[in-house]
Amino acid sequence: MATLKIVKFGDPILRKVSRPVDEITPRIITLLDDMIDTMREAGGCGLAAVQVGVLRRIAVIEVEDGKVIELINPKIIAFAGEQCEQEGCLSNPGEYGITKRPSAVTVRATNRHGEQFEVTGHDLLARAICHECDHLDGKLYTDVQIRALTDKDFR
Ligand code: NI
Repeated sequence: MATLKIVKFGDPILRKVSRPVDEITPRIITLLDDMIDTMREAGGCGLAAVQVGVLRRIAVIEVEDGKVIELINPKIIAFAGEQCEQEGCLSNPGEYGITKRPSAVTVRATNRHGEQFEVTGHDLLARAICHECDHLDGKLYTDVQIRALTDKDFR
């Protein structure tokens, strides 16, 4: 396992649409492992492959310690409600904004064993699922933020 360099806002790769994974190769497994390492080392709760320079539809999420959700070719199949909460991105360290997102989201994806699964997330997990799926389409949280947070918000 290894940690990878995280691409920062302003890099044009973050605006590109990622390609689906059609075969789970050993390289994909290594990428997943390295992405988990990278996310944890950076202290984040989600990371998309594009953020480490790989334009593949892969993301990892860990909003609860030790419970990593690996998403290959994720697709949001249902959502409900609304929440306006704080959001940030490992590609934009130290910055946060308030975004409007669904309060519950169901995503369908493939795991590293090639099995399809569905997971429903509420609150933070719902935000994380939306945020990571957006990355795969070249979208950033700042595109949907209601307002940016400033130092004043944290005093
Ligand atoms: Ni992000």
